Amino acid sequence: LNVLSVTSEIFPIIKTGGLADVAGALPFALAAEGVAVITLVPGYPAVLKALGVSEVVHRYPAFFGGTASLLSGRAGNLDLFVIDAPHLFDRPGSPYLAPDGRDWADNAQRFAALSRAAADIAQGVATGFVPDVIHAHDWQAGLLPIYIRLAGGRSPATVVTIHNIAFQGVFPAYLLSELDLPASTFTIDGVEYYGQIGFLKAALQHADRITTVSPTYAKEIQTPEGGIGLDGLLRVRSNVVSGILNGIDDTVWDPATDMHLAQTYNRDDIDGRRINKAALQKRLGLSQDPDAMLFGVVSRLFDQKGLDLVLAGLSRLLSDRAQLALLGSGDKILESGFQSASTVYPGQVGCFFGYDEELAHLIQGGSDALLVPSRFEPCGLTQLCAMRYGSVPIVSRVGGLADTVIDANEMAIAAGVATGFQFGPVALSPFTDALERARALWRDREAWRRLQHNGMSADVSWQRPARQYADLYRSCISA
Ligand code: ADP
Ligand code: GLC
Repeated sequence: LNVLSVTSEIFPIIKTGGLADVAGALPFALAAEGVAVITLVPGYPAVLKALGVSEVVHRYPAFFGGTASLLSGRAGNLDLFVIDAPHLFDRPGSPYLAPDGRDWADNAQRFAALSRAAADIAQGVATGFVPDVIHAHDWQAGLLPIYIRLAGGRSPATVVTIHNIAFQGVFPAYLLSELDLPASTFTIDGVEYYGQIGFLKAALQHADRITTVSPTYAKEIQTPEGGIGLDGLLRVRSNVVSGILNGIDDTVWDPATDMHLAQTYNRDDIDGRRINKAALQKRLGLSQDPDAMLFGVVSRLFDQKGLDLVLAGLSRLLSDRAQLALLGSGDKILESGFQSASTVYPGQVGCFFGYDEELAHLIQGGSDALLVPSRFEPCGLTQLCAMRYGSVPIVSRVGGLADTVIDANEMAIAAGVATGFQFGPVALSPFTDALERARALWRDREAWRRLQHNGMSADVSWQRPARQYADLYRSCISA
């Protein structure tokens, strides 16, 4: 079974969030299921640099305002098709944002180009590779099903995965002809979305299957509150909507071999965590105190992630000499909130603002508990990493967080299955209650050790989800 995966980011080459992790890890897990995946990505500078020897498989004399070529090659272990279109992708920094922090003005053309190239591959322009299924990720690949339909030739099955419905790719209607979309597509059952062009909307309208990254989020996006304008359409298509949980790459995230840690360790001997805790305290200017409970955060700083609750509950969180280690970047108001907290509570609050892979691993390996108080969370990967590293996750009961963490309530503790703490609704007092529950259990070293052991024993790999994707692909080509 041949699958073309279409994504705007892929780990380890270019990453802004969990989408990259998923796109980078799923191909290997699927190989074990007999599914061969090639991934199509835009030719950003980082991608062209990572691409080894490549071959031009198709040339475009005119492609969204310039010339372009489609390359085929490998980067590390990833099989890639790359759109080499300097006028669209030869730009520094983020895949989506200009240096001034705003979206690139031509993002509609840039990501329409991604879908267009995928549709051309479906028609066979890259001889030697004929996809049975095309798997499109998020709005950036949203026009894919409609371009395939417009081409009218060979049509592989299409699967669209929603990683975050808050990003929908909505653009002004006057771009229609620039995007090679005939006026006939600008209808309620086409690309039209409240008078504009909706990339994700078009995908949801036309894909053969729609998935999202957890079963709970699959339900949440079918409600007015969770669907952000798309819930009605999702309800109409509910018979093709399903949720498949993400995994994590257990070779990248393995405390027994992790080169980013000060000390490696494993489920049966977690002694090395003490050394990582000391290294983390040193790195972020926290007091060298092995007996202080250390809370960690690794997150994009955006409203979605609910980190304003951490600021609002900070004095409670820090009681009993507890500490906070935060790694994040994004919203400047949140950054300055945490920055000033670190001056108000020196030695107790340590922050690093920016993207830092090594520190992300050290926080997982050195903190006692990881905070994920998201307002909504399609799946979330950091709580999975935390479990694997023996940092106990404290999460809000939403989306994939609800599906992956087993709350340490009395029955779960008695049954020996608890892996963390859940709270709801997403508000200050349920959050601080969860912190107090965690603190009380942390004082009981044996009970805490049990939580860590349970989390470290949970299967958070891609194995089970990969089988579910393989089954889904097979079901849509046999339909
Ligand atoms: P989202 O995709 O919504 O940001 P996820 O939990 O799915 O949330 O994925 C986040 C990924 O990005 C994880 O792999 C996490 O370790 C990583 N990450 C988030 N913020 C940072 C940061 N500042 N530095 C390094 N890695 C980060
Ligand atoms: C999005 C979501 C996150 C999910 C990730 C990968 O960025 O916010 O919850 O884990 O995609 O699917």
